[in-house]
Amino acid sequence: MRFKRLWLADFRNYVHLDLEFPPGTSLFVGSNGEGKTNLLEAVFYLATMTSFRVGSSEALVRSADGTAEAIVRGEVVTGQREILLEAAVRSGGRSQFQMNRQRVRRRDLLGVVPISVFMPDDLVLLKGGPGDRRRFLDDALSQIDPRLDVVRSELESVLRQRNALLRQIGGRLNGDAASTLDVWDQKFAEAGDALTAARRELVTRLQPRALQAYWDIAAREVHLGLDYASSWAPEGGLGEALARARREDLRRAATTVGPHRDDLVVWIEGRPARTHASQGEQRSLALSLRLAVHREVAAAAGQTPLLLLDDVFSELDPDRSRGVLHALQSEQTLLTTAGALPPEIDYNARFRVAGGRIVREV
Ligand SMILES: Nc1ncnc2c1ncn2[C@@H]1O[C@H](COP(=O)(O)OP(=O)(O)OP(=O)(O)O)[C@@H](O)[C@H]1O
Ligand SMILES: [Mg+2]
Repeated sequence: MRFKRLWLADFRNYVHLDLEFPPGTSLFVGSNGEGKTNLLEAVFYLATMTSFRVGSSEALVRSADGTAEAIVRGEVVTGQREILLEAAVRSGGRSQFQMNRQRVRRRDLLGVVPISVFMPDDLVLLKGGPGDRRRFLDDALSQIDPRLDVVRSELESVLRQRNALLRQIGGRLNGDAASTLDVWDQKFAEAGDALTAARRELVTRLQPRALQAYWDIAAREVHLGLDYASSWAPEGGLGEALARARREDLRRAATTVGPHRDDLVVWIEGRPARTHASQGEQRSLALSLRLAVHREVAAAAGQTPLLLLDDVFSELDPDRSRGVLHALQSEQTLLTTAGALPPEIDYNARFRVAGGRIVREV
């Protein structure tokens, strides 16, 4: 698979862009605030229908008077097939996506362009809250099996409705409300058990990969552990846990158990990395987790994901930069930098990014 060409109109700081990507590694060099991350974000958006930075599409549309829509269009080649992807991003409403000029749903798009992104923000995997780590797991699962993305979004919608009902009941459960709650509980338990089982299995598979990745990046063997921390006791599944928690849920008008309360715990040398690892260790761990997923997705998809590397070398020492460079192999890589790069980097094209324009230099 190769991401061949990208067109942008009114996306972030790009008024207009038409860019062809060669195979292999493309470097995008430019000062701070010129549009490097925006470019990668556009590619990621087409591949996943989400931004890796913001939850709503509002910020993606160029801020200018009278501009309410951005267009992101890309041409992808897989085998003999050419695929045209297109997103019309509305600042006020829902974006519309097309594949070969037909409307497309996320579940059908995921997997067309397997994609991995590495960026300094990945530190939130260690430093951030449980939500950041749950998203990390769920994003990986969506790429490995888009059906799990459907389960995840069903679960979110059931959770919203269950919580709305709990607030409506206000702690006074009558017969009608009880049977409605039973229905939500059953749906929630079914989707919740499926997602949790998938997350647990993923964590088990990521464990040896993360260990290997840490070795590849830092040339150091550490005792590294990944644990899935569940918000309920697994006996009887989520259904029984919901029944046990019902009084508490009614009292607090919230769903106190479920996959939305779970966490991924990362251990280094027997200590929780979130509170005990050094800055450098956290950085290496974050890269290792991403690399583990990159390899897991590659194995599942039968092809290496398109690799987006946003400014990953700026915070690494030369040895680790070399380790990352060596470990991160892909058929196609888009790499941005505002500063120095490891001297041994091998690339097919170098572009200069300035003020929302991109010019090929080499
Ligand atoms: N919706 C928008 N409309 C117009 N400009 C925007 C919009 N969103 C972001 N920008 C601007 O785009 C510019 C480039 O942002 P980007 O994050 O791509 O920079 P960068 O080249 O990655 O910089 P850095 O090296 O600091 O990471 C910024 O100046 C930002 O303010
Ligand atoms: Mg940037």
